[in-house]
Amino acid sequence: MVSRLLTTKEIRRASQLHFEAFSGFFLTSLGKSFLRAFYKGILEHPDGIAVGLFDNGHLVAFAVGTKCKNGFYSDILRKKVISMSVAAMPKLISSPSKVLRLFNSLKSSKRFGKDIMDNASLLSICVCPRERGKGLGAKVLKAFEEIAFRDSDAISLTTDFMDNDYVNNFYQTNQYELYDVFLQDQRKMNLYLKKRRN
Ligand SMILES: CC(C)(COP(=O)(O)OP(=O)(O)OC[C@H]1O[C@@H](n2cnc3c(N)ncnc32)[C@H](O)[C@@H]1OP(=O)(O)O)[C@@H](O)C(=O)NCCC(=O)NCCS
Repeated sequence: MVSRLLTTKEIRRASQLHFEAFSGFFLTSLGKSFLRAFYKGILEHPDGIAVGLFDNGHLVAFAVGTKCKNGFYSDILRKKVISMSVAAMPKLISSPSKVLRLFNSLKSSKRFGKDIMDNASLLSICVCPRERGKGLGAKVLKAFEEIAFRDSDAISLTTDFMDNDYVNNFYQTNQYELYDVFLQDQRKMNLYLKKRRN
């Protein structure tokens, strides 16, 4: 098992893994082309961090985020608005309420203070559904943290408050502390923070 940075050539594989791992999630509902445009935006951004875990060359998990949360999504939106809109268009036309939700979910980070905004953030982590509960999530998270903590004193992340015990337990087991609970689009969310140990 090897962890290393993902390259832009691996965006298709990462998007496919997202599609399988996050079935039923909002971003997944925008389709595979949208996911490819979304991850391309993250990988090409100078602050983007994308780490993959490979088993015999197969991508089995990844963790993606940014060295600095402040302005990250708005930058990606600005640079990739056309490719992301075109990719998501068929889904957005069939369900126009998704346009507002997409905008809100990408813009929602403005409410947080400097300690969150000026530090790293984990935006997406997933493990191949067949491989869950074997410690791969913890492994790829650790690899992400090693990179993020080079430039940052803390890593934040948000996850659902409701019906999400496995994921909340996973972050708590990995030393993330609950920092805040807030509403995003009527959705109750937990904000976690992990500080670098000096
Ligand atoms: C959340 C997610 C990334 C966690 O990854 P994972 O590989 O399942 O997590 P881990 O195996 O590292 O840890 C999960 C549990 O398995 C246990 N575990 C670890 N190694 C194990 C092993 N060898 N055998 C059995 N269980 C093990 C851990 O103890 C942990 O349980 P605990 O926290 O109650 O102690 C993964 O389940 C996933 O992709 N979920 C769907 C996407 C998602 O919701 N992502 C988070 C969005 S915010």
